[in-house]
Parts: sequence; C-alpha cells; structure tokens
Amino acid sequence: MLSTEMNDRLARVGPGTPGGELMRRYWIPFMPAGMLNEDPVQKVRLLGEDLTCYKDRSGDIGLIGNRCMHRAVDLKWGIPDEHGLRCPYHGWLYDAAGVCVEAPLEARTDMFADRLKLDAYPVKEMGGLLFAYMGPSPAPLLPPWDLFVWPNSVRQIGYVTLEANWLQCQENTGDPSHGVWLHGYLFKYALEKMDDQDRLANMSDSFMKQGVGIKDLYANETEYGMEKGVIFSKELGAESDHTSRHSTVIFPFYTEQNAAGAPWSEFQIRVPIDDYHTYHISYNCYAAPPGVEAPKQDVIPYYEVPMWDEQGRPILDAILNQDFIGWWAQGPLTDRSQENLGRTDIPVVFLRRQIDEQIQIVEDGGDPMNFFRDPATMPEILYGGGGPAEAWQNPEWASKDLGLSRNTRLQYHKGGAEWESDRFGPAVPLVAELHRRIEEVQASTKS
Ligand code: FES
Ligand SMILES: [Fe+2]
Repeated sequence: MLSTEMNDRLARVGPGTPGGELMRRYWIPFMPAGMLNEDPVQKVRLLGEDLTCYKDRSGDIGLIGNRCMHRAVDLKWGIPDEHGLRCPYHGWLYDAAGVCVEAPLEARTDMFADRLKLDAYPVKEMGGLLFAYMGPSPAPLLPPWDLFVWPNSVRQIGYVTLEANWLQCQENTGDPSHGVWLHGYLFKYALEKMDDQDRLANMSDSFMKQGVGIKDLYANETEYGMEKGVIFSKELGAESDHTSRHSTVIFPFYTEQNAAGAPWSEFQIRVPIDDYHTYHISYNCYAAPPGVEAPKQDVIPYYEVPMWDEQGRPILDAILNQDFIGWWAQGPLTDRSQENLGRTDIPVVFLRRQIDEQIQIVEDGGDPMNFFRDPATMPEILYGGGGPAEAWQNPEWASKDLGLSRNTRLQYHKGGAEWESDRFGPAVPLVAELHRRIEEVQASTKS
C-alpha cells in the first residue's frame, strides 16, 4: 500500500512533478523514425506536453511545442520548410530550437522575433526509434542498449497507446508470478471462449505450472536496474528446489526479455504520455546466431499492436495483449492506497523504492541511475542484463540442445508466432525466414 502522496510522487509525470523531473533526465523513445517518411509532421504527447515532431526538407528532425505563437494553430498541420516548420495559417516559420525566425506577412518582425520561442527538445535516432530529451542541459549520452544496436538481426517496432499510467505497466516487470494466471489460465479461458480447439490442444502448460511450489520471491539491485525472480520449493510441490530469474528491468522504464543475440528478444518500453496514458513500445530483435545471416531490412518496420477485436472486446489470445489488459484494467491511475500486497509483490515494492530513491537523487541535484555523461567510458553496446545471450553466441550453439524444438518463440516458421502479440507485426515473414535458416544450420550440424 502507498499513501496518496507517494502514489502521486512515483506515478505522475507532468512538468514540475517529482516523477516528471526524474523522467526528464532520460532520452525517451517516442516514435518509430519510419513514421516521418509516411507523414513528415506528427503529433506527439510526452510527459504531459503537447508537441509536434517534423522532418524538414533538409532532413533535420525537430520536436517543438504544438501551438503556433501567432494565433494558436496546431502545428500538426504545418508545412515542412527547407529548415524548420511553417504554420499553415499565416506561414510563421519555426526552427528546431522553437524560435520563430520568420513571419512572412509582417512588415516588421524585429519587434517580436527575439521573444517568440516555442518549447523545443533535441531528438536523436537509434535502432529505428526517435528519442527526445526534455531535461536540463547538457543532455546526457543516448545509451546504446543492446537490442537497439545488436548486429545481424531482424527488428520490428510495435506501439500502442494505453489508458493506464506508465508505472502500472512497469510494475508488471516487478511481478514475476502474474504469468501463472494472466498468461496461463486466462489464455486458456480466452481460447475456450473462442472455441479455438486447435490452439487449446497445442497450448503449453508451462505458465500454469509456475504456480505450483512458490516459496518466495527475490529482488536485487543491478548496475542498470533490478533483477528478480521466483524461488520454488520441492516441499511445496515444485518439481525441484530452484530459482527462476524473471526478465530484466532497465531503469527507469525498460523491460528486457532475453538478451541481445537471442533469436527472440524484446524491450517493452513504458513511455509516459501523461499521468493517465502510456505509449507502449514493444521493440523486437530477432538475432541470427553465428554462422547464420539474418534477412536484410532497410528501414525498421513498425505497426500498431491491436488491442480490441471487431466487437470492441479486448484481444486476449496473445501474451503481451494479456499484459496490456492487466495494466489497463487497473484504471487510468490506480489508487495504491487501496491495495493489499502479498509476498509475491516483494519485487514491486523494491521497484517503487528504487524509483523513490532516484527521484530523491534528482531532487538533491545529482544524476540518477543510467544517466551517462562520459563518452570515453560508454561502450559500443550496453547490456541491460549484464551481457549477450551467451548460449546462442557460443560457436557450438547448433550442436547443443537450446530448446529449439520446444520453444515456440523459435518456431515462427512453424506458426509459433500465433501465441505472441508480435504476430501482428510486418516483420514476421522475415523472422520466419530467419528461424527457418537457424533450423537448417542446426539440422545439418546434427546430421
Ligand atoms: S496562426 Fe500560425 S501563423 Fe497565424
Ligand atoms: Fe506478462
């Protein structure tokens, strides 16, 4: 349980709020870069601010306030100029620093040119995503988190706008036991309601089995975030005494499933639009192991992950969609003063404390976790979980049993994608081709 004050401190993200000030210390991914090729002027809402992102005719990208300073026209309808964006109404021109540099119908602009400046934020591109920095200067380095930069891979970017505060989404990563019900029993229930006998017959019981023999949960701070998992006990019914590590948390809003170099890996990025909405990015990287060449992509493709079916009911027969519904169903900004936590929430409590501590560091004038300044100490690839997916980088991978036959995430060429939300994405045929090549190498090594 949290007090209402603490709930607001951690969850709210508008300008001047404690959580919002923390968020303003990070480069925040806000859009697939490819979207500007489709329409060079896009509406963006980030940390409670309405903005316009544009690519001008010289190819430079700007992110500026959305209301023209003349008479408040929404610059989403603006015209890209050689350098900057023009308001469609009377042609006032704004550069990437937000400065109004021209008012073509005015005889004298020297009267106001100096003081007319919209909010403006620097933008960088990495891994097919655009990132904005909305905090104090100088901006930190843009960290090359592994999935954004790992070579020889297929990628795709899924996005969805959720009516749910970002922290609800991120707390899901501090919750390693939810899969039993949300991805196990709920999945089964959804397939029953759809009368999908095929998938019911093929459904793995691995999620549901994780509900048996839970003794405790653990959570520890790591260099870039936290690690957590479930401790199982044979005495309580588990197959053996063992510990199962859950996905990686990269502070403040990333979750990493698997690691770079694995045939399937994913960043789930919980981008705060405002206090009540999250722009959720599922960033998939399907890496080729040594000796296999991934199909080429010129632009990283993107897609909106569908959330509702034709009847307006939530789509529940895909894993990430089940998470979406879990977060959304907690309400736009969940009231944590009313919750009742159990032992399975230990990592959630850890995650909240970590956010509170990092907010405090910012309040005290310091640099929070994952704020990088020194290019000399920045590696080419930053591994959120500590390193690449080792087993798959072993040159001998093809002769080892790495679960190729039983893990649906390596079987997209045989319909494995049908369990996942990334099945809606445009790169799935390429991923299927990659998985086919992987299987071919493995088969030839074993024969
Ligand atoms: S309203 Fe934008 S130029 Fe007039
Ligand atoms: Fe989940």
